[in-house]
Amino acid sequence: MKDKLTVLVSGGAGYIGVHTVNLLANAGYDVIILDNLVYGHQDLVDQVLKTKLIIGDCNDRAFLDQIFASDAIDAVIHFAAYAYVGESVTDPAKYYRNNVAGTLTLLEEMVKAGVKNLVFSSTCATYGVPQAIPIPETHPQAPINPYGKSKLMVEQMLADFDQAYGLKSIIFRYFNAAGADPSGELGEDHNPETHLIPLVLQTALGKREAISIFGTDYDTPDGTCIRDYIHVNDLAEAHVLGLQYLLEHNQSDVFNLGNGNGFSVKEVIETAEKVTGKSIKAIECDRREGDPPLLVGSAEKARKLLGWNPKYPGLEDIIAHAWKWHQKRHG
Ligand SMILES: NC(=O)c1ccc[n+]([C@@H]2O[C@H](COP(=O)([O-])OP(=O)(O)OC[C@H]3O[C@@H](n4cnc5c(N)ncnc54)[C@H](O)[C@@H]3O)[C@@H](O)[C@H]2O)c1
Repeated sequence: MKDKLTVLVSGGAGYIGVHTVNLLANAGYDVIILDNLVYGHQDLVDQVLKTKLIIGDCNDRAFLDQIFASDAIDAVIHFAAYAYVGESVTDPAKYYRNNVAGTLTLLEEMVKAGVKNLVFSSTCATYGVPQAIPIPETHPQAPINPYGKSKLMVEQMLADFDQAYGLKSIIFRYFNAAGADPSGELGEDHNPETHLIPLVLQTALGKREAISIFGTDYDTPDGTCIRDYIHVNDLAEAHVLGLQYLLEHNQSDVFNLGNGNGFSVKEVIETAEKVTGKSIKAIECDRREGDPPLLVGSAEKARKLLGWNPKYPGLEDIIAHAWKWHQKRHG
């Protein structure tokens, strides 16, 4: 009998992956990262996490076969995916291939190897344009771009795989992951970067001249879009709790992971100016198509059933931790 459970983390060298692997190791799990390093960071895995990394692709059946044959895996946390909404519109094939077909290959290999526990990264983009705020898990799912559709397709596959093969899953629909480990050793480093907080901090560091605000005439208190930012360590903690819940209850379920509090684009810029002590140039631009004014989720279910209690709900902590990381990584 093993004294530690082994978790395979696909995409574990990516942003949310490295933070989750860190907390899983602290919680006593043996972790194996599987990542093709298209966007992952081997230096963080080798130097900070010091975790076993297997470099390869979820679309590679023979490679997955080998992993499941050589390591006794108890559960999989599946982060590996592409996540650029704009690119998914111009190159949907890339998204359906990687996010849907790649996941299908992984699920088939799990079934074949008898691995029956999965935690899956879904997204609030599966809801499409919100009809009610805060968005509950029961909100209709009508994604408006191929990225969101690719994640919804996997959610649907997971329901069928549970029914037919007994593969149990926890689906997490994240709102906007943000921030960094408070140590400053782990953080967000997407290339290209599209997320607001890193873009604002790159501007504070002088790496960008200005930050664009898309739309200042929305029906919100300051006219700019409001989003739900969730600290990446709180998100990571939810994965540890979700995995534990899955192993204890052997039952599939779905949870939103968000802050419940929205922050506007202007609030993010103002808070970043306060945290960094720098003035951040902002350019007001027209609205972007497909941006709802308000996107805030209800994570009451995760709080109630998983006992999840985010430690860093405030925007100032989120930005301060991200700033520490950005100065170290890019300063
Ligand atoms: N960052 C967010 O705010 C956010 C919000 C909602 C959902 N998500 C989802 O969370 C997950 C992680 O997001 P992230 O921000 O950490 O992204 P990321 O790009 O930093 O991490 C994804 C990792 O997966 C790897 N990868 C991609 N395709 C792969 C494949 N076929 N085989 C092996 N490895 C592969 C990449 O190299 C990368 O290391 C994604 O599934 C994303 O769709 C993220």
